[in-house]
Amino acid sequence: MKPASTRLNLSSLDAAREHIAHARRVAVLTGAGISAESGIPTFRDATTGLWARFDPMQLASEDGFRADPPLVWRWYAWRRELVANAQPNAGHYALASAQSRFDSFELITQNVDGLHARAGSAPIELHGSIVRTVCLARCGFAEDDPKRLPPGEPPRCPRCNDWLRPDVVWFGEMLDVATLQQALVAAARCDVMLVIGTSGLVYPAAGLPAEALRHGARVVILNPQASELDELATVVVRGTAAVELPRLFAAA
Ligand code: OAD
Repeated sequence: MKPASTRLNLSSLDAAREHIAHARRVAVLTGAGISAESGIPTFRDATTGLWARFDPMQLASEDGFRADPPLVWRWYAWRRELVANAQPNAGHYALASAQSRFDSFELITQNVDGLHARAGSAPIELHGSIVRTVCLARCGFAEDDPKRLPPGEPPRCPRCNDWLRPDVVWFGEMLDVATLQQALVAAARCDVMLVIGTSGLVYPAAGLPAEALRHGARVVILNPQASELDELATVVVRGTAAVELPRLFAAA
């Protein structure tokens, strides 16, 4: 006989598959957990998480950047390299290949690592992209290819000579209004919202499942651990993204 936890997992996976099979419009919200099996550290893991090892206010805020531009630039350059050497995993690929099976399939991510796009999705990137570099003064300069950046740690903007910085949302900064609006519309219109690998602690992203629920959607959570959003869930699947997503979207 199988242990109780395995039985529970299987039945919740079946229930989640059932909801997805009946959905026409799907929205997906991903967090750092979907890239964990690609070797990218999450933020809040007690031992390996990025915020456990580094001070977010020093490394992910404009004040921190202005206090020590080379330090912050090098930290992001290190993360860019980590991401460049990583590969999308079976979870990223399962989402990319599922998109054509629904009337609409909107993938919203809090991740800045670009792995969804490399797997073939076109995500709504709520927190920006670590791959793209912009001018600190927002003069309009942007560069998508890290190999084409001018030299310097950080480099200077070729247009206005201010610092260049990663195009990510830092602490104390607002999300891009149009991007957030796109995500809110996707949440309001979906039949099922699938929430993968997020602790549900950072708003406004963490408010999207409640928005979906308020408009009548089912909320399916996939996470190996408890999250702040579990109480909203119609179904919780306890498992990891690279293992469970291919099963979730496997043809019936
Ligand atoms: P967290 O580090 O807060 O949470 C990661 C979540 O992934 C946890 O709930 C883990 O249980 C789960 N997890 C770990 N391994 C997994 C796996 N293999 N499969 C599925 N889930 C797994 O990361 P986020 O919730 O993404 O913002 O953090 C949200 C935001 O906080 C980030 O976008 C970042 C940070 O501040 C900015 O940088 C603006």
